[in-house]
Amino acid sequence: MGIILGALTVAGVLPILVYLWPAPPKGQKKGPVNITLDKPIDQLGDGEAVKFNAPTSPNTAFIMADGGGDNAAGDLAFGGFAVKNGSKVDVFAINCSHLGCSVALNDAAKTFDCPCHGSRFHLDGTVLRGPAPVPLSHLTWKQGDTPNVIQVEGIVLGF
Ligand code: FES
Repeated sequence: MGIILGALTVAGVLPILVYLWPAPPKGQKKGPVNITLDKPIDQLGDGEAVKFNAPTSPNTAFIMADGGGDNAAGDLAFGGFAVKNGSKVDVFAINCSHLGCSVALNDAAKTFDCPCHGSRFHLDGTVLRGPAPVPLSHLTWKQGDTPNVIQVEGIVLGF
């Protein structure tokens, strides 16, 4: 009797779960995205940052690992920065945490500056000046096969 009830429950609940948890649209695929940096990671000096963009063929985006303000874990980004901060490398999404504009590297001041409303961030992603309320979002990454390649968690959106 228990087995029959269990089977009926599974048979009734499974279609509901499939409906509530749809597969990604056809052509979309999550996974590591290979990015070739302008300068190899192991040659970045302390306080040096390199910008990179998501590939456009096929159309690809990066997936934020965390966030606050206008950003949240799981949100998409189409660019980022790899920054050498002391002995570690941080990789950030390009999106300002205020309203999502793309921040730019201010190499002279060693900050990321947002052109939209004037927010500024330290190279470790923390807020130097608002209105941005919280730090930049991180991207999940690992070293690729060669020093100038990193693999950033992302999603292929389509062709
Ligand atoms: S979007 Fe960056 S300061 Fe407003």
